[in-house]
Amino acid sequence: MVSLQILASLVLSSCCHVLSTMAWSVNNFLMTGPKAYLTYASSVQIGAQRGIEECKYQFAWDRWNCPESELQLSTQKGLRSATKETAFLHAISAAGVMYTLTKNCSMGDFDNCGCDDSKAGKTGGLSWIWGGCSDNVDFGENISKQFVDALENGHDSRAAVNLHNNEAGRLAVKATMKRSCKCHGVSGSCSIQTCWMQLSDFRDVGNYLKIKHDQAQKLEMDKRRMRAGNSADNRGAIADTFSTIARTELVHLEDSPNYCARNLSLGLHGTEGRECLQSGTNLSRWEKRSCKRLCHECGLKVEEKKIQTASSCNCRFHWCCTVKCEQCTQIVSKHFCARRKKSSRTHNTSRRRHRTRSG
Ligand SMILES: *[C@@H]1O[C@H](CO)[C@@H](O)[C@H](O)[C@H]1NC(C)=O
Ligand SMILES: *[C@@H]1O[C@H](CO)[C@@H](O)[C@H](O)[C@H]1NC(C)=O
Ligand SMILES: *[C@@H]1O[C@H](CO)[C@@H](O)[C@H](O)[C@H]1NC(C)=O
Ligand SMILES: *[C@@H]1O[C@H](CO)[C@@H](O)[C@H](O)[C@H]1NC(C)=O
Ligand SMILES: *[C@@H]1O[C@H](CO)[C@@H](O)[C@H](O)[C@H]1NC(C)=O
Repeated sequence: MVSLQILASLVLSSCCHVLSTMAWSVNNFLMTGPKAYLTYASSVQIGAQRGIEECKYQFAWDRWNCPESELQLSTQKGLRSATKETAFLHAISAAGVMYTLTKNCSMGDFDNCGCDDSKAGKTGGLSWIWGGCSDNVDFGENISKQFVDALENGHDSRAAVNLHNNEAGRLAVKATMKRSCKCHGVSGSCSIQTCWMQLSDFRDVGNYLKIKHDQAQKLEMDKRRMRAGNSADNRGAIADTFSTIARTELVHLEDSPNYCARNLSLGLHGTEGRECLQSGTNLSRWEKRSCKRLCHECGLKVEEKKIQTASSCNCRFHWCCTVKCEQCTQIVSKHFCARRKKSSRTHNTSRRRHRTRSG
């Protein structure tokens, strides 16, 4: 029932107290007790944090920008939303935990796990065989499932949706894996190669899941059956609904709010005060339209602010061996969404096209 809340406390608590109390609160933990639990707990925490950071990166120029306060609020009773955004949050957190555990395993951080060499020696394709050290994603999947899915202990459609999205996140880690190969043969002729499967950068997992977010499917539960039914019927309705949806796809139950307006009791920060990008080298189309999306379409104006930044410059190398730099200040201009003057809300908008002076 409180999956995001616990993940959030994993993310937000910097140390050990919360973890040790959690050891006893996750009651359906399947492994051999608190010792095994603590072996992985810090990796789980780091993984959840990695997921949240990626979420912030992926949504930096979206109206919803993965605010941490919402992680907590959205889990309070009656406020458990199941939007596309919470779907992404579940998926990226689950993926982050699996990814980190898998990396830890490959680095030799755990005694009981190592490379996945189950295919070693087998022919993979034309002139290559499996070899080397494949990242052991099955291990990461296994452990992360026990931590992350265990947080979901309801049997309602919300729990089912969250578990589905956790799974989709873990599948994303697998789907983005890449084959790496090494050449062998007479004097590097590369007549034969050995290959192994490697995790991609976590960024690739984030990019992949962002696309899944954009294409997330809304579940239409069979409401008649749910209302009439006993809990077995209920589970049947949930199972039927899910059988039509691929395990790799994100699902949601509710439409998202437009995320323009601030409503803190719903955990919504609104876009007033947010920075947007108006100029700059190499902006993507998505970034270029950020002022339109965050400000204009939310009834806000774009305000330019000059901001002074300091950085090292004119560095010189002195014999021997120091580098001396000067501090240079630079004025950069940044753009933020700001409220329009009250009067402009009415018929007056077209006449206010020209820039108003602002601090
Ligand atoms: C797992 O890897 C992370 C870095 O990704 C590292 O900070 C952490 O200490 C590792 N965990 C263990 C148990 O070594
Ligand atoms: C996954 O965990 C279960 C116990 O929960 C264990 O029996 C199984 O061998 C594990 N699989 C892998 C690949 O680690
Ligand atoms: C915030 O949302 C709640 C629930 O929809 C609503 O009752 C309340 O009026 C909203 N508050 C503001 C300040 O809009
Ligand atoms: C801009 O994009 C090009 C091609 O995508 C890349 O080679 C270049 O390094 C980028 N420049 C900056 C400042 O990011
Ligand atoms: C339009 O706005 C200006 C201030 O921005 C105000 O002085 C003026 O009276 C407004 N005109 C109308 C027709 O509302």
